[in-house]
Amino acid sequence: MSTEIIDVECDFLVVGGGLAGLYAAVCASSLGRCVVVTKQTLVQSNSYWAQGGIAAAVDPEDSPVFHQEDTIAAGRGLCDGRAVQILVEEGRERVTDLINLGMKFDSDDSGLLLGLEGGHSKRRVLHAGGDSTGKEMIEFLISFVSSSESVTILELVTVTDIISDGERCYGVWGYDEGRESYVRISSPCTIVATGGASALYSRTTNPEGASGEGISLAWRAGAEISDMEFVQFHPTVFSGKKGDAFLLTEAIRGEGAYLLNARGARFMEHYSSLLELAPRDVVSKAIHSEMRSCGEDYVYLDLSHMDPGFVRKRFSNIDRLCRDSGFDLAKDRIPVAPAAHYTIGGVRTSLMGETNIEGLYACGEVSNTGVHGANRLASNSLLECMVFAKRCVDSASGRRHAGDISGDFEGFMLADTREADAGFFNEAKDSIIGGMSTHLGIVREREGMEEFVARLEEFSSAARDVPGWFGFKLGTMLDVCLLVARAALLRKESRGAHMRSDHPEEHSDYEKHLVFRKNLEIYGAD
Ligand code: SIN
Repeated sequence: MSTEIIDVECDFLVVGGGLAGLYAAVCASSLGRCVVVTKQTLVQSNSYWAQGGIAAAVDPEDSPVFHQEDTIAAGRGLCDGRAVQILVEEGRERVTDLINLGMKFDSDDSGLLLGLEGGHSKRRVLHAGGDSTGKEMIEFLISFVSSSESVTILELVTVTDIISDGERCYGVWGYDEGRESYVRISSPCTIVATGGASALYSRTTNPEGASGEGISLAWRAGAEISDMEFVQFHPTVFSGKKGDAFLLTEAIRGEGAYLLNARGARFMEHYSSLLELAPRDVVSKAIHSEMRSCGEDYVYLDLSHMDPGFVRKRFSNIDRLCRDSGFDLAKDRIPVAPAAHYTIGGVRTSLMGETNIEGLYACGEVSNTGVHGANRLASNSLLECMVFAKRCVDSASGRRHAGDISGDFEGFMLADTREADAGFFNEAKDSIIGGMSTHLGIVREREGMEEFVARLEEFSSAARDVPGWFGFKLGTMLDVCLLVARAALLRKESRGAHMRSDHPEEHSDYEKHLVFRKNLEIYGAD
């Protein structure tokens, strides 16, 4: 196997090819040479699968102030007010910029068609291709960056190390699967936009690649990580007998679908006056409780009272997925259950996307900008990607090159990978993912979490002896799971997406963020 090192230099380095990464590349393309690195191909990102859309107060009847109020109400006391204001005000501008670049959102003769989702007081969710918003936006941005001479896309390159002395970031090491070579990319500005970690759960809406590697890499480099206990579960994910799971967008409830328990009764009135359109944490917990009381592992989503022609046109992609699984979206009761969907916490940033390490930035789901608090408002994530990707680029533009980064290669050596370790890796992975689902799911309690942390620590010690690819994958997975588990144990209350059966109430002592930094104690920040 070749151990050739390919050296690359650029003005802006973007790690991750989802919406945040591609939009950062769009913003950087007029300012300097930009390299986008992605471990898969551009159409395999989590953003690509986003169904619902992008929330923005573009309707004359709406206002960023209403959007701000809804976001803060959903966030259960932990949103950063200034970050939310930036999100809703600049978000509207970013959406307009995108439309001006040529992006087509669904519209009719009267203008943009706006959807409604849980926790929103107004119709403000722009969508494209009905329920294929992520695909449409990603394909639009790919066509833009592909035609830009200043943007280079490196697909199938896994970043294995952020090069940092703990104070300053100089670039990254990666492994290029296609060329079977190591890549060393130096840049004055490294923007991590690698997405979240929900694929670390057995029931998830995310593709396999959403395993939280960016969080682990940043943490290892010395970046602060915060709010990791808040893992958002999407309430309505198909729950078929064969274990198939796909998202049924919240926009379906926005158009009037009902939730029924396994006995066929509507139940949301017992949990919230907003019924099926309560914020996501409330709906997921209500479904969890109904599943337990009915002794079934699903509830139903029911659209049978809605116009079938409208349903099939507006949700054509989901209609097709349901048919493939033997259900008619417009007529049948569709079995659904919550699944891990979004990592609310992540790499802690300033309002400009800066981390505590100079030259290292983060945006999109991997970051924690403070806009989501303890529970993200539906369809705010694509908006956050665009707003903070631009802010990262604005902050980084004009940064001078960091200088020479040649030195010893300390990243993992793929050549060390031992086939013999595959068995241990697979066994550990199954156990970790199973434990995340059992002990760090919608409802958590101390004893289970403590036992799970002990198991994770045992795996961590064993993983140190595993070299190469398996050691790298296992190590990053364990870093992220331990961050979630430790934070969830420390937060002895229930708030937003974090619910503990042994501490069921919200507590004012915990109106703060839990921040972790390698080799330092955890601390709380307001
Ligand atoms: C959905 O379409 O329900 C998901 C959108 C989101 O997670 O914001």
